[in-house]
Amino acid sequence: MSVSDEFDEWAAAGKDRGMEDRHWHTAKHVLARMPVEAGETVLDLGCGSGYAGRALRETKDAGRAYGIDAAPEMAHNAADYTDDPQIGYLIGDFEHLPFETDSIDHCFSMEAFYYASDPHAALAELARVIRPGGTFHCAVNYYEENVHSHEWQSFIDVPMTRWDRSQYRAAFREAGFSVAVQDNIPDREIEIPPASEFPTEDWERREAMVERYREYGTLVTVGVR
Ligand SMILES: C[S@@+](CC[C@H](N)C(=O)[O-])C[C@H]1O[C@@H](n2cnc3c(N)ncnc32)[C@H](O)[C@@H]1O
Repeated sequence: MSVSDEFDEWAAAGKDRGMEDRHWHTAKHVLARMPVEAGETVLDLGCGSGYAGRALRETKDAGRAYGIDAAPEMAHNAADYTDDPQIGYLIGDFEHLPFETDSIDHCFSMEAFYYASDPHAALAELARVIRPGGTFHCAVNYYEENVHSHEWQSFIDVPMTRWDRSQYRAAFREAGFSVAVQDNIPDREIEIPPASEFPTEDWERREAMVERYREYGTLVTVGVR
């Protein structure tokens, strides 16, 4: 199944808002860190419901926010969730960004980058559109060190790239980014039941759930162009 078919189905089923709720636990910390100045142009790569553009407009006074998504239904839903004329949601793929060279100040991406059909080409394209000194804040929950994420590929019919921390850094550098920081943001908001309630529907052991959310959380790699 193609990325757009898969995520069109998710959007039609209303799963875009559910993703936003779950991802917001750590995404908000990534967004708060972004060095966006008032009036700057930001891009959300794989925007889903489009929450990042709305947040960067509201909290950092970004001048213009774009979200791009391969799934038309995602982009349409995102557009329906705001009436801000300075936010635009576009249908497109990571390897062919519809922006001029050096036209984006900062880019954010949450739980989307690893769906790129060619992640190296996607990084090269980001290095083209982000201006020198601009940043790419790339947040993922699916990555090699997070052993609890490995089974996710079996739940979805779209190929996913599972890099480890060093592969992210190497690929960023190869594309022309300096890696300013790479760290893990724990999810402190997801409720973890007491030990007596395990096993749960999703988790055999409480320790594993604690490791997944409180220790591994979201891997963030920040590249500076
Ligand atoms: C798991 S969702 C995450 C959405 C949102 N960033 C969030 O945090 O809730 C991944 C999104 O990326 C989009 N996507 C995945 N691969 C893509 C690609 N190669 N080009 C454009 N969009 C893509 C999907 O359509 C989907 O909406």
